[in-house]
This record gives sequence, structure tokens and C-alpha cells, in this order.
Amino acid sequence: MRFGLIGTGLMAQEHLRNLRLLPDAEVVSLADPAPASLDWARRTLGDRAAGVSCFPDVESLLRGPPLDAVIVASPNHTHHAVLQPLLATALPILCEKPLATTLADAQDLVRLAARRDAPFWVGMEYRFMPPVRRFIADVHAGRVGRLHRLALHEHRFPFLPKVGDWNRFAANTGGTMVEKCCHFFDLMRLIVGAEPVRVHCSGAMDVNHRDERYDNRTPDIIDNSFTTVDFANGVRAMLDLCMFAEGSEEQEQLVAIGDAAKLEVGIPSGALTFSPRVPLGAPKRVQREPIAVDPTVLAAGHHHGATFFQQQAFLDAVAGRAPVQVTAHDGMMAVAMGLAAETSAREHRVVRMDELLG
Ligand SMILES: NC(=O)c1ccc[n+]([C@@H]2O[C@H](COP(=O)([O-])OP(=O)(O)OC[C@H]3O[C@@H](n4cnc5c(N)ncnc54)[C@H](O)[C@@H]3O)[C@@H](O)[C@H]2O)c1
Repeated sequence: MRFGLIGTGLMAQEHLRNLRLLPDAEVVSLADPAPASLDWARRTLGDRAAGVSCFPDVESLLRGPPLDAVIVASPNHTHHAVLQPLLATALPILCEKPLATTLADAQDLVRLAARRDAPFWVGMEYRFMPPVRRFIADVHAGRVGRLHRLALHEHRFPFLPKVGDWNRFAANTGGTMVEKCCHFFDLMRLIVGAEPVRVHCSGAMDVNHRDERYDNRTPDIIDNSFTTVDFANGVRAMLDLCMFAEGSEEQEQLVAIGDAAKLEVGIPSGALTFSPRVPLGAPKRVQREPIAVDPTVLAAGHHHGATFFQQQAFLDAVAGRAPVQVTAHDGMMAVAMGLAAETSAREHRVVRMDELLG
């Protein structure tokens, strides 16, 4: 399967390293307006760079060698424009998260994607980390009983530098609650199996980026927040984000509690902990199980193997062996929840999802 990559910065390097592990995939074209990023991709491709064509934009890439699928890994605020010529083709598309930075753009992309037969997939790869996949399967199989609460924690490092520093401003990213947290809102919808009704977020830029200046502008991105989401089936979910906690052993922790038990998983430890309820005073019956990931796959990226397994699932969808697992609608809903959280934090109020979605 001949791949074209649009945007060849940091995330594209991870895609390139993982595509290399898939025997059916070959990279034939790259598009990026920054020559340094194209050089970076050529270096990552190493001995496979020889036959690869490079272009300054998506339009010229589409006039180049024939392709079987494309991956869009350009900055968030470029996704809508970059996708326009791609959606006019019959090519399968994997678009990095977030689908777009505004709800209008995200909804427009949902409409355009629905008019075509080819797979359109949004890169919500946290679903594909093997320990997270196992956690989701266990919750869906009823291991905690009836689910009532879902808490997601991300305690990590500050935003990395990007090509042109686009990620320092909410106008380019959609805001942290869209840019970073779309992953977690997507996980919430998937795990809870219902739609969000109302969102409350308290967050601000308290520690990071405060001394940075870009053309005399200070970044305007949230670096920590607490968000609660009420779902239509009564489940309440919580997201705890802190981006000045790089000393934390676990970067992500997912905790589901139902009427029968509590289930937790941690990344990067991969430790799954099951704690069934016990009578008061009785011995605890905690079970711990490590969920392993192939070291070659782990080494190919920074997302605990997720990029590889997502690409594999995307190839299955392209080949017609399996359905698209993360649709344009899923991508739009994650953007909508992120925007609801951004509005809630800015305006200090609860935001109902029907304010945004009607
Ligand atoms: N799935 C994940 O966990 C994950 C992780 C990191 C980044 N991402 C997403 O990947 C995308 C890229 O992020 P990144 O970290 O690689 O950023 P980056 O700044 O490292 O790279 C972006 C590249 O896109 C290029 N570009 C800019 N405008 C373009 C256009 N119109 N057409 C083609 N290329 C263009 C830039 O020159 C740059 O080389 C973003 O949408 C980001 O949110 C996803």
C-alpha cells in the first residue's frame, strides 16, 4: 500500500517509523512547505528515502505518483484546508487529531467525509495502546459491574516546541482542551458508551510558557485543568490534566468504578489493577496484571505502541477487512467536548453540549 504523508514534522516521524514495521506499507510521497521537515523525514526513512517524491503542498502531492492512502500530520489549524483536495479524491485518509480547531470546520469535514465511500479515520490513537485497549474491553465486558464513574488523569511534561511554534496559541490548536484533551474526551465517549450532556472545566496557564514571547505575544494555552463531564446514561467522568508534572511515574491513569469493582490502568507501567468490592473489614482481593507491549513497537514511537496498532487497524479498514474505528463523527465530538471545556474554563460556567450541537 503506497502512502503519502502531508506534514512531515514530529508526529510524521512516528508514523514513518511505524509504517516501516508494516510489511504491506510503503511511503512514496511527502508534502511539507518546510524543507527542513522534508529533510527530517528523508533521514528517518534512511535507505528507503531514495525513491520518495517530495512536494511543498498537498495539491502537488496529488499530481505526483499514484497513492493508495494518505496520512495528514500538519498542524491542527491546517487540517480543514489540507483535507479539502484530499476529500475530493477516493483516497483513504487518516487525519491526525484533532480533526479541526473549530466546530464549524469539524462539522463541515463530517459532511464531506460522509459523501464518499473511502475510509476516513481520525488519529485518536490512545484507544490503541494495548493496556488501554484491555482496560476498555474489561469495562465493556462488565468487569466493574455497572459503570458509574470514569476518571482519567494525565500528568506529563509541557508542550514540546513545534515547527513555527504553532502550538503556543489556542487559535492554532483549538486550545489545550481540544489539542491535547480530545484524546481523553474520545476515550470517555468510547468507554462510557453514551453522549456527553454537560461539561464543566476549571483550568488556566499557571506555570508553563509564561515567560515565552512570540512576536511580543504571550502563549494563551491551558497547562492544567480539572474537567467533569455528565453523560446521558448517568455516568460521570472526570479529566485531570497537569502539564508540569513530568516527574510523575505514570503519565496516564484511567480509573473506572462500577457497582461491583474498581479497575485501573497506568501508562507507561502497563499495570492493570482490579479491586473488587469486599465486605467491610474483609481482606482486599486486589489483582495486578502487567499488560506487555512488543519492545520493537514501543521503540517506534512515543505513544506506548498506539501508532503501530492504529496504523494496522487503518490498513484493515482500507483493505475492507474491518470497519473504520474512529470516524469523522467521533473526531468532531471530541473537538466539540474540547471546545465546551475551553468555553467553560474561560467563562467560569457549565456548558451544555446542546449549546454547541443544537
Ligand atoms: N496522535 C497523537 O498523539 C499526536 C501527537 C503529536 C502530534 N499530533 C498531531 O499531529 C499533527 C502534527 O503535529 P506535529 O507534532 O508533528 O507538529 P510539527 O510542528 O512537528 O510538524 C508539523 C509539520 O507540518 C508542516 N505544515 C505546516 N502547514 C502545512 C500544510 N499546509 N501542508 C503540509 N504540511 C504543513 C510544518 O512545516 C511541519 O513540518 C498535529 O495535528 C498534532 O495535533 C498527534
